[in-house]
Amino acid sequence: CGIVGYIGQQDSKEILLKGLEKLEYRGYDSAGIAVMNEQGVRVFKEKGRIAVLRDIVDESVQAPVGIGHTRWATHGVPSKVNAHPHQSNSSRFTLVHNGVIENYSILQREYIQNVQLKSETDTEIIVQIIERFVNEGLDTEAALRKTLSILKGSYALALLDHEDANTIYVAKNKSPLLVGLGDNFNVVASDAMAMLQVTDQYVELMDKEMVLVREDEVIIKNLDGEVISRNPYTAELDASDIEKGTYPHYMLKEIDEQPLVMRKIIQQYQGNENRLTINKEIVEAMNAADRIYIVAAGTSYHAGLVGKHYIEKMARIPVEVHVASEFAYNMPILSENPLFIFISQSGETADSRGVLVQVKELGHKALTITNVPGSTLSREADYTLLLHAGPEIAVASTKAYTAQIAVLSILAAVTAESKGINLEFDLIQELGIVANAMEVLCDAKEEMEEIAREYLSTTRNCFFIGRTLDFYVGLEGALKLKEISYIQAEGFAGGELKHGTIALIENGTPIIALATQEHVNLGIRGNVKEVVARGANPCIISMKGLEEEEDRYVLPTVNEMLTPLVSVIPLQLISYYAALHRDCDVDKPRNLAKSVTVE
Ligand code: G6P
Repeated sequence: CGIVGYIGQQDSKEILLKGLEKLEYRGYDSAGIAVMNEQGVRVFKEKGRIAVLRDIVDESVQAPVGIGHTRWATHGVPSKVNAHPHQSNSSRFTLVHNGVIENYSILQREYIQNVQLKSETDTEIIVQIIERFVNEGLDTEAALRKTLSILKGSYALALLDHEDANTIYVAKNKSPLLVGLGDNFNVVASDAMAMLQVTDQYVELMDKEMVLVREDEVIIKNLDGEVISRNPYTAELDASDIEKGTYPHYMLKEIDEQPLVMRKIIQQYQGNENRLTINKEIVEAMNAADRIYIVAAGTSYHAGLVGKHYIEKMARIPVEVHVASEFAYNMPILSENPLFIFISQSGETADSRGVLVQVKELGHKALTITNVPGSTLSREADYTLLLHAGPEIAVASTKAYTAQIAVLSILAAVTAESKGINLEFDLIQELGIVANAMEVLCDAKEEMEEIAREYLSTTRNCFFIGRTLDFYVGLEGALKLKEISYIQAEGFAGGELKHGTIALIENGTPIIALATQEHVNLGIRGNVKEVVARGANPCIISMKGLEEEEDRYVLPTVNEMLTPLVSVIPLQLISYYAALHRDCDVDKPRNLAKSVTVE
């Protein structure tokens, strides 16, 4: 979910709505704003997108204070009633919240058993408890502090008290939240992008802090009420990067940006003497590790699998790759000197952040590979490597995936070199060849549209197969297709499909097979024959030099290790066109959010 707030002299409605539009990547099940002036508080909320909310906001209301929320449902179905803001029964308090209150049912029984609740959300519990404490005699700040002290779980919240039109009360634990500073106004936002329209000066908040945000002052306190001083930083985002220009969808724009991002990465990581460099401390941490643990979610996890291959093959350090949400509750026996690598486009994924907090408590070192400087995972890790991919807006990740793989290849190569391992190729040159190959693929849109039409227009399901690196890319291809076209898709190791899943193959079932790895080319070709013998409709994507007559598309040749950077592009484009052919919302697929900040 995403949160915004404004307090100042202007009317707050438009600032809040614009901010929420920028935060829609965090969820778009429902949205709402509450605006406050001397007359009181007005709440507007609705199921669906910000565009729907915009239509119901009463233009005639003028209010210099307000809070807003866009939701990715956790407790309670997406509906108007469950949409934020939520109000206490007397309507004195109005609250927006991002996160999950784990002990909400216990709190409900203990503190507000007799209060009639309007929604099914854990958020409403918080605002009702605050009201109870105020009714018992506490002032708002003390009531909020007392409430925070009994909450278990994650929250970023903003609260209005309509008896105090000069303050937005803010608090944070685990979920991200920033306060932005302006002249005669201040703002609150889940990320800086949301409020870049009004300020680039932000103060970060730490867990278990609360803030009184007023027109002319921002007072940060810890839960003991002690005042904390902290300097602002300048958010370095170019607002123009966030526009989609002439493209019909962000996803297509971001797919097309990949060659440019590759070149940017080469440039950013190129030191003197035309050599790739990585911060010395990071290389030392890599070399000090006896085992590396990569932790990530979704697409970033898939990039991690490729990263393992690179680090093991080039730098010869053993690597394990883990899904963050599992690792947190089922930690493997760790090696003596582990190094953790968190891969996260947004740097905000709560599952990954949960693991980071755990491993920091154990005293281990962590490196975050992220696209967002200043994000939570970046701030809290010991080291950061940036993707330099520019803001990724479409929910389905594309350019961040290839950027992650490129940065992982550089990390592996530089570490290898520091150990005196001779890689026998020049990675700068090889990544340059990749960028050129990516351009060729981005120009092959018509062919990809044709493949999508032919194989995926009406199918129920689709399988992706490959061996070694192609297997990992197949997992990502399947995820892309599922995310945006809602076709049931699975990626499989070519040799594993026959051990059960082959039972699902029927006449005409599409199989997308990748064949870019010479040493397993015969193997994957054999696996294709097995499914064709059972009626499957194969679409083989191979690499030049390994192609056969039956192949549907042949990729330009790149270094065999770097094939994931190019073979994924046809899969991204095929998913894109499949979603278009099936009339799906490409940039904002159902049920998803770009950045999931709850565990
Ligand atoms: C969400 C998105 C996925 C993304 C995953 C991890 O579930 O829908 O597309 O891969 O989060 O995000 P991160 O920002 O940590 O890479």
